[in-house]
Amino acid sequence: MSTEKSENIMEVRNLKVRFFTYEGIVKAIDGVDLDVPRGKTLGIVGETGSGKSVTTYAMMNLVPPPGKIVKGRVIYYKDGDALVLTEMPEEELRKLRGSEISRIFQEPKAALNPVYKVGDQVAEAILIHRFDEMIDRAIKGLEKKEGLINSWKLSILKRARKNERDILVRFIKKMPIAKRLYWRPVQEEARKEVVKLLGMMGISDPDRVYDMYPHELSGGMQQRIVIATALSCNPNLLIADEPTTNLDVTVEAQILELMKDMKKKFGSTLVYITHDMGVIAEMSNFVAVMYAGRIVEFGDVYTIFKKPMHPYTKGLLEAIPMPGRPLKYIPGTVPNLINPPSGCRFHPRCPHAMDICKEKKPKLVEIEPGHRVACFLYSKEVDEE
Ligand SMILES: Nc1ncnc2c1ncn2[C@@H]1O[C@H](COP(=O)(O)OP(=O)(O)O)[C@@H](O)[C@H]1O
Ligand code: SF4
Ligand SMILES: [Mg+2]
Repeated sequence: MSTEKSENIMEVRNLKVRFFTYEGIVKAIDGVDLDVPRGKTLGIVGETGSGKSVTTYAMMNLVPPPGKIVKGRVIYYKDGDALVLTEMPEEELRKLRGSEISRIFQEPKAALNPVYKVGDQVAEAILIHRFDEMIDRAIKGLEKKEGLINSWKLSILKRARKNERDILVRFIKKMPIAKRLYWRPVQEEARKEVVKLLGMMGISDPDRVYDMYPHELSGGMQQRIVIATALSCNPNLLIADEPTTNLDVTVEAQILELMKDMKKKFGSTLVYITHDMGVIAEMSNFVAVMYAGRIVEFGDVYTIFKKPMHPYTKGLLEAIPMPGRPLKYIPGTVPNLINPPSGCRFHPRCPHAMDICKEKKPKLVEIEPGHRVACFLYSKEVDEE
């Protein structure tokens, strides 16, 4: 740990991720360098299979097996300290995930447990990450009440607050009726917090929705619950992985508005993943364009839309449907990353490919202040790694 100061909340340096599968080694992420500016929204865009999800899993040091980070560093800046997440013990990482860095998953159905009430699922996250706060609120509430049972609950909660391993507290936890009694005020505090949060998500009857099961809610409502869970612990960095992909366009528009609103209210940094250039324009301050496991272009949102340089970014922009303009598309598909193309991984699809593109990897180079591009049309610098 050092005490460097940074404008960025996170920096990814020369990240390489491989998946060790029976078919072969998938070279999924191939030397990604990425800055996440603090308090802003960074959009990551690229076709399916570009490596957007894997990059952001690596940002939490949470690449699923058979994947592995084989090289590089992820640095997270917390209160002026530089924490190297790729070198941190799992136990400490677990504390950061959820409370500091949180993730909204692409598929709300997979993120929600079908057999629990949705409100209880949000409350669980709060009880894990904001336990002391909830217990303090319950103690405050009980101090205002009279009666023998209340004073008994109060003394047990105070003992639990002081020392979770207190012998009497542990004993009571083993007796279901007593446990329910002393624990209820804490659960009620968590419930109040969840109801407040669901209200902020634009859910009109949050107290009733708290007691519903996932299958009773529409896709849009389910996604609001997932967003509420991710925001319940006031994370400093929120990663949203295509959170509107499976929703109707009108619901998508509502969720996008909600995300922007929440970002303002919570003041957090947002990393927003999508394959949709329209959504990127709507949401981002900065944009990273990914192709086949590499960042090919990075800049602020105006630069990327007004002055795109990389042929892939230009192709993505031309593929946005516009009235009166013939629909263009990028020929070919994202390559299989077990045997990726040599040199620039985009060369088989690039209309400007030159001989050097087949042999060497272009380095991500700052072409003008804040605008980085990895393409030999602009710089002959080679990425030797
Ligand atoms: N569990 C896995 N096993 C093997 N390969 C994987 C696995 N997860 C992702 N990949 C590979 O990693 C690459 C990047 O995937 P991903 O990050 O999911 O792309 P995106 O989110 O941009 O659609 C793809 O080539 C994909 O095949
Ligand atoms: S490096 Fe070559 S192949 Fe790659 S995008 Fe630039 S011109 Fe096209
Ligand atoms: Mg993905």
